[in-house]
Amino acid sequence: MPASRRVLVVGGGGREHALAWKLAGDGAEVLVAPGNAGTAAVAENVPMAATDVAGLLDVARCRGIDLTVVGPEAPLVAGIVDEFTAAGLRIFGPTKRAAAIEGSKSFCKQILHRGDVPTAMYREFRSAARAREHLEAREDMPVVIKADGLAAGKGVFVCQNRAEASAAVSSLASDPLLAAAAGSILVEERLDGVEVSVLAITDGRTIVTLPPLQDHKAAHDDDQGPNTGGMGAYCPTPFVDDALLAEIEGRILVPTVHAMRRAKVPFQGVLYAGLMITAQGPKVLEFNARFGDPECEPLLMRMESSLLELLDATVDRRLDACAAPRWREGAAVSVVMASAGYPGAVTKGQPIRGLEAAAGLPDVQVFHAATRHLDGQVVADGGRVLAVTALGPSLGRAKLHAYTAVKEIRWQGAWCRKDIADKGLRRERDLLAAEAVSQESPADDTTSPEPATS
Ligand SMILES: Nc1ncnc2c1ncn2[C@@H]1O[C@H](COP(=O)(O)OP(=O)(O)OP(=O)(O)O)[C@@H](O)[C@H]1O
Ligand SMILES: [Mg+2]
Repeated sequence: MPASRRVLVVGGGGREHALAWKLAGDGAEVLVAPGNAGTAAVAENVPMAATDVAGLLDVARCRGIDLTVVGPEAPLVAGIVDEFTAAGLRIFGPTKRAAAIEGSKSFCKQILHRGDVPTAMYREFRSAARAREHLEAREDMPVVIKADGLAAGKGVFVCQNRAEASAAVSSLASDPLLAAAAGSILVEERLDGVEVSVLAITDGRTIVTLPPLQDHKAAHDDDQGPNTGGMGAYCPTPFVDDALLAEIEGRILVPTVHAMRRAKVPFQGVLYAGLMITAQGPKVLEFNARFGDPECEPLLMRMESSLLELLDATVDRRLDACAAPRWREGAAVSVVMASAGYPGAVTKGQPIRGLEAAAGLPDVQVFHAATRHLDGQVVADGGRVLAVTALGPSLGRAKLHAYTAVKEIRWQGAWCRKDIADKGLRRERDLLAAEAVSQESPADDTTSPEPATS
């Protein structure tokens, strides 16, 4: 089967810019709907909303698209893959029912239960009143309150105690924007540990696990402030070594894919596992049904082999015959630059300076998340505006390259976290220190003290 020649990427953020950049590099002619000022440099933008499934179908038919790749979750949960497939068009991503692994946290829990996959214990309630009754009756302790449906990152509340949890339930019930998502409410045990992301591409039978990452959800340094869509990510993360990755694959990714197939809801696409590495081992916080943003950016910067081949093999259900992807040595770091006021309301239209200088630096890609052209200039056009991404022979060097590029870029009110990848750098240092201690005092020397734990 010849590789796809013409590819349509659905979406308009940093993830879609990274996908378009990578697929164009793999030799495809790329169209992006709707795209942004950055995707216009590597592809043809088509002014069509990511949720306009009928319009996207027309584009795919009229423009002779060989493969469509869906970026964001909303069109997937709305069933774009079912409609394209019914029209005989090849498309990468899960069906509407399979996308429910992200679209419904309750459905996700049922699949995890079927697959005996480790996750937080939970109870589900069909009304806020019932959820509050349960909170009153149970021991006063930290819990996590979650709306069942999609809530753009605003449907989850990590609560320290009963009072906070009740308030979270009330805000879910009273917020008109969240009412649909809060058709049912989950009360989950709060897990403690280190949060990491592991993504896998699967055709419903075979899975290809991608290098582990760490995202930074909180708005400010040291994970302070409100949750956002993600302020940066780096890859690989030293919190997941080969043994742990094998465990995650064997106890979480493979059983989940098999449980979905047994439930007659085979999953084709990217399975994004949000994990907590607890003292009892890795546990599932959630599954997303698409590449993450900003996780996609450092991941694709490190990918040496063809993404196009991998996506084609997935859609044609021949992933088992596809060569394993190759990854560049070293690491990649992606720093999100945001507008003043994000994750709250932001002003748009400020001209962005320094993009060429930053993009001219070695091993740097400035992926656009929310930008547009205005009077011949590139202007900021949303909350998360750019994902400045860099490679390096080490995590420390990749971080340095990314922030050197960030320093070149300015617009009024622009800001970013200063500590993306620092958790990974601290972990590397701790591992080195522990290794040095263990070398100083070999294990069989019964007189030596216990090795320091990281
Ligand atoms: N059981 C839990 N214990 C501790 N923290 C949790 C738990 N569940 C969720 N969290 C925290 O809340 C964040 C968001 O939760 P979750 O990933 O389920 O929601 P989401 O809105 O689907 O997120 P995303 O936008 O990443 O898809 C997690 O990244 C984690 O920091
Ligand atoms: Mg999610």
